[in-house]
Amino acid sequence: MNPQLQDTINAYWTDRAPEYDAYQQRPERRDLDRDAWVRVWSPALPPAPVDVLDVGTGSGHVACLLADLGHRVTGIDLADGMLDIARGHAAASVRPPRILAGDAVAPDFPPASYDAVVGRYVMWTLRDPDAAVASWVRLLRPGGVVAVVDSTWFTDGLGNLYGDRPDATLPLADARTIDETAEVLRRAGLADVTVTPLEEVLELDRAHGVAPGHDVQLQYLVSGRLAG
Ligand SMILES: C[S@@+](CC[C@H](N)C(=O)[O-])C[C@H]1O[C@@H](n2cnc3c(N)ncnc32)[C@H](O)[C@@H]1O
Repeated sequence: MNPQLQDTINAYWTDRAPEYDAYQQRPERRDLDRDAWVRVWSPALPPAPVDVLDVGTGSGHVACLLADLGHRVTGIDLADGMLDIARGHAAASVRPPRILAGDAVAPDFPPASYDAVVGRYVMWTLRDPDAAVASWVRLLRPGGVVAVVDSTWFTDGLGNLYGDRPDATLPLADARTIDETAEVLRRAGLADVTVTPLEEVLELDRAHGVAPGHDVQLQYLVSGRLAG
């Protein structure tokens, strides 16, 4: 563990949390987003209700959606600012997820306690993706799935996103293809690893624009299954 790097990441996301959440909640695309993301997650997960861990839950968008679909969801994050907002959304939900402080690289739960581990826009910012996915596999029951959504956001390098720390190296941040993410799932021993381009999300981004400072980019669902 590199505590200083993780502290930098946590502080960045705590600072950004209100703006990030406001973007997620834009009224002009909120319903369209919900429908599109239901079509992403529902086929990727076992039929509800199952136990789902949302790693790097941020402001809780995925956790709240999956709980609303009937799953028993726990969302974990390390940024206090994100956790505060996620807890607010959970409190306003009819079927709230549980929101906890927790490290996506070393989540502290009993072995075989989840049917699915999900994470959206998190793989790129993990300090050790291989250790993370290996730990997620240990949390899965036989037949469980890991399903993550990400993209190749920073093919030219991370720049000074997390400041100018020389140790700010994140293995997938400058991935050139999404296959690098798929390889992490394969190295963790998951079977049937597939990469699915999310064309509907791309069309929504093209129609409505993306967050300031970002380019429209194709996102992918990367998923794999624990044998058994
Ligand atoms: C781009 S945001 C994505 C948030 C959310 N998953 C979503 O779909 O909107 C990345 C999140 O990952 C969290 N994160 C980064 N490293 C983490 C770690 N090791 N453990 C837990 N959360 C982490 C950050 O705090 C941040 O909330």
